[in-house]
Amino acid sequence: MTVISLGGSIVAGEEINLEYILKFREFLQKYSKRYKFYVVVGGGKTARKYIMAGQKLKLNQYILDDMGILATRLNAYLLIGDYSYPKVAENIEEAFVAGKNYNVIVMGGTEPGHTTDAVSLLLAERAGERRVINMTSVGGIYDRDPKVHRDAKLIEYMSYEDAEKLFMERKMNAGLNIPFDLLSLKIAERSRIEIVIIGSEIRELEKVMNGEKYQGTVIGKSHDGHKEEK
Ligand code: UTP
Repeated sequence: MTVISLGGSIVAGEEINLEYILKFREFLQKYSKRYKFYVVVGGGKTARKYIMAGQKLKLNQYILDDMGILATRLNAYLLIGDYSYPKVAENIEEAFVAGKNYNVIVMGGTEPGHTTDAVSLLLAERAGERRVINMTSVGGIYDRDPKVHRDAKLIEYMSYEDAEKLFMERKMNAGLNIPFDLLSLKIAERSRIEIVIIGSEIRELEKVMNGEKYQGTVIGKSHDGHKEEK
């Protein structure tokens, strides 16, 4: 099965992005005839709004995470269809087992303490998958912040070690976000799961599925065929 981690802000920014959701559903409808998918959806602005309100009310971190999880599940519901398992899977085991009977499984978060990126990696680990496709609005890792520097260069391949280093450096450096958290990188590293970071465009996702050249960053082990640093 192909594991896709779909950034919540693509699905729900200020408004719910219905146009995009319709396109994504079309993709799932079409491609699930040939492939099987686990889609893990993030919380986007909905999660952020609730978490910020909860923070102001001094709710504890666990409760804030629980609210975040509910937001991810709300977003995930928008991708349920007649092509999928008819409910949002609530944990990795449920998703894994449902994957035996359905070609598309949609889920959000599972429990407090991590993000949906980590869920997508754990699911890949459980299911023995070698790759997670991560769709974000940034669309890859750049050498500089692409929103500020027009000449920022996309880094096409990066080792787990370098991604971890970059994560630590950039954590200190607001605005230069690496679209991944450390826990996810660690899970990817221990099970040698490649993280393919692409933008939100369905066309790019299709290219990945069809084995065509796509625009994005691959995070993986340093000593394999990708070494040539395209
Ligand atoms: P996201 O996975 O969307 O978090 O889950 P994020 O990485 O902060 O968001 P983006 O990718 O930048 O848009 C939203 C929130 O839900 C909680 C966390 O609080 C997370 O920040 N969450 C999510 C959990 O606690 N556990 C989960 O398994 C998933």
